[in-house]
Amino acid sequence: MRTYRTKVAEPVDLPDREQRKAYLEQADYNVFNLDSDAVFIDLLTDSGTGAMSSEQWGALLRGDEAYAGSRGFDALKEAVSQIMGFGNVVPVHQGRGGEHLLYGALLEPGDIVLNNTHFDTTRAHIAAQGATAIDCPVVPLEQLSADRPFKGDFAVETARAHIDRVGVSRIGCIILTITNNSAAGQPVSLENIDAVADLAAEVDVPFVIDACRFAENAYFNAPDGAGELKDIARSQFDRADAIVMSGKKDGLANIGGFVAVRDDELFEEIRQRCILYEGFPSYGGLAGRDLEAMAVGLTEAVDPAYLAHRVTQVSELVERLDDLGVPVIRPAGGHAAFVDAGMIYSHLSAATFPGQALVCALYREGGIRAVELGSLAFPGTDRPELVRLALPRRMYHREHIDHVVQTFDRVLEVAEDEVGFEITDAPGQPELRHFSARLQPRD
Ligand code: F0G
Repeated sequence: MRTYRTKVAEPVDLPDREQRKAYLEQADYNVFNLDSDAVFIDLLTDSGTGAMSSEQWGALLRGDEAYAGSRGFDALKEAVSQIMGFGNVVPVHQGRGGEHLLYGALLEPGDIVLNNTHFDTTRAHIAAQGATAIDCPVVPLEQLSADRPFKGDFAVETARAHIDRVGVSRIGCIILTITNNSAAGQPVSLENIDAVADLAAEVDVPFVIDACRFAENAYFNAPDGAGELKDIARSQFDRADAIVMSGKKDGLANIGGFVAVRDDELFEEIRQRCILYEGFPSYGGLAGRDLEAMAVGLTEAVDPAYLAHRVTQVSELVERLDDLGVPVIRPAGGHAAFVDAGMIYSHLSAATFPGQALVCALYREGGIRAVELGSLAFPGTDRPELVRLALPRRMYHREHIDHVVQTFDRVLEVAEDEVGFEITDAPGQPELRHFSARLQPRD
């Protein structure tokens, strides 16, 4: 059994309910506008928000800040080679920096890209190349409660139908996102990884793995949580042509990422793009110390004791919410609980943002910050009104989980009083409106 002891204490105070109501109003009912000091438990994301280990903090001091050829780059290369089996590595400042470098090199305008489910930044980077992203999830979002293992899988037959329709020559690459963040963090099976590799080989296009949460995905593929976890983690990449990685998730770092590829020509092109957009390819927009921290983090992420603690904490949250009667997607994925706010607030229409009603209620009743992934974040789509509570890695303990569950209890009690929200102002692109929209409660 694994636990963590606190070495650096950071006090966090719960503002009282009146203060929380005032902060919400000042934030225009958008929790992205809250100061983090006003947040008691921050479940906005699991990206870059975890606690680094003492080994990682030690590695930061080892950091070599040379512009070229730093030791941290060697450490990262070695870790990626050991853990993922790739030798050609280009560091980047975070995952989307890697998407920019990789998809800019791989895609042409008019290309089609298939993925189990594209994460928002992936979709946006594909669109920025003039290409089109198509999701091929094995279970549609509205059926994610279905009783089926590996609900993050890629639907190979759906992909085949798209390929037949548009023609092989238009397929730019095939991506597999493990775990499938946009499908409630559900895992992808090793068999499915193999089937997608077969498809990519058949179509003769690069097979890319978005590896943000590769270690969590490996854990779901190791039924006994056994010692071969490292082998399972590595085997996921055996047939991949490229990896794009946000080190802010299973790199256990606060910042960083990388691209790794097999093909030497593609590697050179990505290195050149790195010089232009991120920095010299031995640091890729990071401080040398960040490379060291990510190298250590990757190694810790495939430690079976760490993964058992991590995945168990998430599933404990999900099961306790389920016991309380909260409509939550089960079984738990790897990094977050996904709650269907549309079922809690059946009296609120999609136009009045039930997901945002839940996000605001969680803050008002318990100082908890979550994120809406329903009608506010995805305008014009017919998706369930999901709210994500993502657990930062190694950050919170059972007393925090207790507080989340107690807060939900209170939120359910007052559910009928919620009136929903209307948008008063939504600057910027419609797809990004949830980051900066201003809202107010309906009359
Ligand atoms: N791919 C996936 C599957 C992701 O979940 C993310 C980030 C990215 C790519 C981009 O990585 O943030 O380092 O640039 N997901 C975060 C989240 C932001 O909250 O789920 P990044």
